[in-house]
Amino acid sequence: MKSTILITGGTGYIGSHAAVELMQAGCNVVVLDNLCNSDVRVIERLKNICGNAPQFVNGDVRDSALLDKVFALHPINAVMHFAGLKSVGESWQQAAHYLDNNVGGTACLVAAMERADVRRLVFSSSATVYGQPDTVPILETAPLRTTNPYGRSKLLCEDMLRELQAVDSRWQVALLRYFNPVGAHASGLIGENPTGVPNNLMPYIAQVASGRHPFLRVFGNDYPTIDGTGIRDYIHVVDLAQGHLAALRYLEQVEKGITVNLGTGSGVSVLQLVDAFKQATGMEIPYQIYPRRPGDVASCYAATDLALEALSWRALLPIEVMCADAWRWEQSIKNAVDHD
Ligand code: NAD
Ligand code: UD1
Repeated sequence: MKSTILITGGTGYIGSHAAVELMQAGCNVVVLDNLCNSDVRVIERLKNICGNAPQFVNGDVRDSALLDKVFALHPINAVMHFAGLKSVGESWQQAAHYLDNNVGGTACLVAAMERADVRRLVFSSSATVYGQPDTVPILETAPLRTTNPYGRSKLLCEDMLRELQAVDSRWQVALLRYFNPVGAHASGLIGENPTGVPNNLMPYIAQVASGRHPFLRVFGNDYPTIDGTGIRDYIHVVDLAQGHLAALRYLEQVEKGITVNLGTGSGVSVLQLVDAFKQATGMEIPYQIYPRRPGDVASCYAATDLALEALSWRALLPIEVMCADAWRWEQSIKNAVDHD
């Protein structure tokens, strides 16, 4: 029988890509999203990609009555929980809101799952829970520490989910620690919904290429790295989405939880990404060196052995594909903005 998966935050960037992978793998998908950072038109686009649309519920994960209704209406086997707020800068201004939405939302969801007797959960965590890492590549056993309220909210969710599994072995939770998701679906139909000026490197580079900004500010060229600029582990969002399917299969087969990094294991510097973007797209990216961005780490990339061993999953798409797909998506949203 087909399994039915509830995806919270399923009209968002990563959730929509996970919806594609799940539907293409034959699952029924129910999306719950309050559209605070996404657009309902994503549902129609998922239909264009997959041939059928997921069921859509417009609502909030903090709405217990609504969650009970969703679990009563659909034979849900597992939940993928993407719904959350994710801006580090905003989390300093709105710490209480981040706690309420991210931690309160997760608490509400697991309580509803408990009532519905559904205890299989794939959770969107982040490499941000490693804070300033002592060594790279970062193993899943590295110390956990956070440097901002957003990161703290993710760590609190992880703690809550670890606690649940410790007291009740029926809970099976995959804590997936994402590194730096970039790129977009090859169809050009779904990608990251940019509001305002992006803080993250790849969307900013793409916007420089399309002429929305005159140049890229490179935050620091005096780090102890290959060219002095910050090193990160960029992972194609489609690879990341496939990692979720692998994690779900793991929970179904092994019937116990796992905490695992989802990254490529390769570090790429800011200037290397600028160069790869130029190679992949032919676009020049003018840049200027600026001071370091407060809170940034020099180097952050994943140890990937556990993902390969336990999930039989590894990221496959190279940096050039990440750049080409980010560029295609930027062009499609710029066209849409220009024609609005
Ligand atoms: P996104 O903002 O594109 O998607 C999140 C979705 O959740 C949005 O559609 C939003 O409308 C929805 N949402 C937020 N709060 C909600 C609530 N209370 N009820 C219902 N819906 C709600 O973000 P994303 O990049 O797809 O990230 C998904 C998850 O992955 C988040 O939890 C984020 O913290 C985590 N994560 C993201 C990154 C990244 O770089 N994008 C890195 C690590 C972890
Ligand atoms: C940031 C968040 C992190 C979050 C991740 C999501 C901070 C401190 N960290 O991580 O919590 O999980 O996004 O993807 O905000 N850079 C530039 N110029 C720019 C933008 C970035 O030089 O305009 C550099 C940064 O200094 C860094 C690298 O590019 O060295 C990557 O930055 P970014 O894409 O923001 O990701 P993270 O810093 O890893």
